Amino acid sequence: MANIRMRPVQKSLCALMVLTASLAFLYLHVWSPKPYTTVDLRHRAEWVPEQLLNDRLLVPDKKYAHIAFRIKEEIVELLPKNSCKCQVEPSMNLPFQKQLFGHVYSLEFANAFKPSELPEINSQREQEYRSYRQRSQSPADQLLIVRANSPLEYPAQGVEVRPLQTILIPGLSLQAAERTLYRVNLTATMGTFDVAAEVEGVKVEGEGRMHLTLSASQLDNLNRQMQFVTYTNTLFHPNTADTVQFSTDEHHASFIIRIRHAPTPRLYNPGSSSGGTSGEEYNISALVTIATKTFLRYDKLRALIDSIRKFYPTVTIIIADDSLDTERVEGPHIEQYFMPFGKGWFAGRNLAISQVTTKYVLWVDDDFIFTPRTKVEKLVDVLEKTSLDLVGGAVREITGYTTTYRQQISVQPGDEDGDCLRTRQGYHHIIEGFPDCVVTDGVVNFFLARTEKVLQVGFDPRLSRVAHLEFFIDGLGILHVGSCSNVVVDHASKIKLPWLKTESEKQYAKFRYPNSSDNSLNTKQSLFYFKNRFKCMTGN
Ligand SMILES: *[C@@H]1O[C@H](CO)[C@@H](O)[C@H](O)[C@H]1NC(C)=O
Ligand SMILES: *[C@@H]1O[C@H](CO)[C@@H](O)[C@H](O)[C@H]1NC(C)=O
Ligand SMILES: *[C@@H]1O[C@H](CO)[C@@H](O)[C@H](O)[C@H]1NC(C)=O
Repeated sequence: MANIRMRPVQKSLCALMVLTASLAFLYLHVWSPKPYTTVDLRHRAEWVPEQLLNDRLLVPDKKYAHIAFRIKEEIVELLPKNSCKCQVEPSMNLPFQKQLFGHVYSLEFANAFKPSELPEINSQREQEYRSYRQRSQSPADQLLIVRANSPLEYPAQGVEVRPLQTILIPGLSLQAAERTLYRVNLTATMGTFDVAAEVEGVKVEGEGRMHLTLSASQLDNLNRQMQFVTYTNTLFHPNTADTVQFSTDEHHASFIIRIRHAPTPRLYNPGSSSGGTSGEEYNISALVTIATKTFLRYDKLRALIDSIRKFYPTVTIIIADDSLDTERVEGPHIEQYFMPFGKGWFAGRNLAISQVTTKYVLWVDDDFIFTPRTKVEKLVDVLEKTSLDLVGGAVREITGYTTTYRQQISVQPGDEDGDCLRTRQGYHHIIEGFPDCVVTDGVVNFFLARTEKVLQVGFDPRLSRVAHLEFFIDGLGILHVGSCSNVVVDHASKIKLPWLKTESEKQYAKFRYPNSSDNSLNTKQSLFYFKNRFKCMTGN
């Protein structure tokens, strides 16, 4: 009985406690001191296309109007003009050009859309581009000019504070002519100033606030005091910068304190016996995962795995599979991931690479064959000893022809229609210490890469059929790419006459090589147009 009567009492006690707790929480939530309740994450400055040769230079101020000058057309040509065009260059009309450099072409991406839908597409693209620029820019990217004849000494660049933390501001001083009172002001907008020590004979006003004034009758004392000035970031907005105003009576300067978390490293433990430091062999199983994507070609895939096992019996192989009638590929150190039917090329690459846990990933196509010339160690050696992120090898076709597919990629600034993409065969320079290796921007689909960097770029799953160079275009500015001709993998596929193809080969061909009524080419061009904001491309 007692038990039963206790219950309602316990219940109401419990309810009261819950109520009190929530009220207390609400009270704390509403009344706790909060210096900033809302933070404006929008950037104020509107983006203006960068123009190096602007009107100010050609039509100067009055002060310089009388000084004659002569334009050097050949140099002006090299400056960005925000009006690029994808024209095939006449200078490329060399003898044997087609045999040497391939067929030169030029494409306009706006053609991927109906003329009626283009205005809508353009306005959406412009809006997305504007907000992308605002997200990716910070005042640390802005140009600051140090004016001449200032008595103010200050750090022009390289001052950095972690969010909500404190630093000493280095390099502040005043070099003024003799006077009775020396005075400087410091003003910030995202943090406060203080002094780590108080120097005799200096008056400090505004400690703990965004505006600090220092004054002294002795210049040396003032300069000594400035060595103790601290900055504390109080507005939490990482990856931006505070522009600090620094002034004395008639002079004014500004400098940047960058606010950001130090980038968090993502390191892979190479294992105790990974080797390589003093010329020993690398332990490839500990350092490398082989990733591939298969679609309806199990015979080819098995031949690839058998060839890998001859040389690397314990390296992990990851297979992304979007076949319709799937077959299990079993064996030690093999991981097969099934995907919805026909998800496509880049989706498969993405899935495979997302599962890699080693420092490096080796990408291979499912119809490649390892041979004694497929020395993965050599590619590992390049990445271990250089700053490259990705290094391609060479693929030997059944005809005996070997290709490295080295591509240089560059982008020229355009107007509001978009930028111009230019790809051409070739490379930038040979790598010191690796005579068979060069630096370029895009390589063949046989490459070793730092897993973390490939994940950072990713493979756009919207590219489902014919796609390869798109990854390197997305990676421009993120990936530092090399190519070595001395590591060769064989390509097993040969051209077969259509009536000799098996049923699965026919189905494969239908998906892999879409016909003209298929719209995958259109998808590719519309992605270049909208996602990358290119209007056109030239290539060979
Ligand atoms: C410094 O700031 C104070 C108070 O804001 C102002 O009165 C003074 O004119 C400023 N001095 C200089 C040198 O900018
Ligand atoms: C190489 O690494 C693998 C995987 O970490 C490990 O199991 C193996 O023992 C290592 N081999 C040698 C020779 O150290
Ligand atoms: C071309 O592609 C379309 C759509 O995928 C398909 O219906 C058609 O059969 C294909 N034609 C040929 C000749 O393969």
